[in-house]
Amino acid sequence: MLKRKDILGLREMPAEEIDEILTVGMSMKKLLRQNIKKLPHLQGKSVTTLFYENSTRTRCSFELAAKYMGAHVVNISAESSSVKKGETLVDTGKTLDAMKNDIIVIRHPMGGAPALLGKTVKAHVVNAGDGMNEHPSQALLDMLTMRENFGSIEGLKVAILGDISHSRVAKSNLFGLKKLGAEVTMYAPKTLIPTGIEKMGAKVCRSREEAVEGADVVMGLRIQLERQHAGNFPSLGEYSKFYGVSEALMKYAKPTALVMHPGPVNRGVELTSGLIDGESSRIEEQVLSGIAVRMSMLFLLTKEEI
Ligand code: CP
Repeated sequence: MLKRKDILGLREMPAEEIDEILTVGMSMKKLLRQNIKKLPHLQGKSVTTLFYENSTRTRCSFELAAKYMGAHVVNISAESSSVKKGETLVDTGKTLDAMKNDIIVIRHPMGGAPALLGKTVKAHVVNAGDGMNEHPSQALLDMLTMRENFGSIEGLKVAILGDISHSRVAKSNLFGLKKLGAEVTMYAPKTLIPTGIEKMGAKVCRSREEAVEGADVVMGLRIQLERQHAGNFPSLGEYSKFYGVSEALMKYAKPTALVMHPGPVNRGVELTSGLIDGESSRIEEQVLSGIAVRMSMLFLLTKEEI
């Protein structure tokens, strides 16, 4: 059972709770592999996904996770809701409370929006990505994939390359991986490395080869074209050539190293097409882990109430 009303990020979550979500997530993934998609864990509960930004993986997998466990699910996109008429986030949350909704899964462009909502509604709030702050369910699914492939997170070396400045995925992974005993190296153009990331536990490297040397996992991050307001790199072609992950770069990692990416991928920019579709890629497996870990999160949040 989690000792919290809301899941807002991994910065604030102790290692024991991360471990519990992963352990239950592993069991959920085994059931999914057996094509078992009818479980009673959320029967009688209502889950609303409230998305102020686009999503394919996160929104669909929260919806499927809730439905596979018997919940009623409502999907709200800000574009087609009363938000467009000027309704505030807090008023939207209170409206959902009045409808006896139990969990709100929210994605919002403003860092801190899920925390604000969590303070003002009775429903549990799950952060599905807030601005450049955190994306806890993505990091948890990444860690679930690593644990399944390696048996444990402790002692792994994880290299993260890409748009770290704008990445909530990088931050949540850093917090979670460090708490479970992994080493995290990072590399990106200087313009895409946020100040203070080393204080959070990352080792920022001087070259991509140094970052990847001896790595168990090489994670490419999406170049977030929608958040690039300044010329942080000259062109996508040059980004790919000088900062992307290629077969040649993977030779510096362990021979058993896995390639991961949270998606959506800019094919041929962050990773070569060969790596995306290659044997070491776990990108599709990450998607299945996403449903499993989100089932675990929703179940553990409400377990004591069922
Ligand atoms: N990884 C991720 O958050 O993907 P979506 O934007 O498709 O949800």
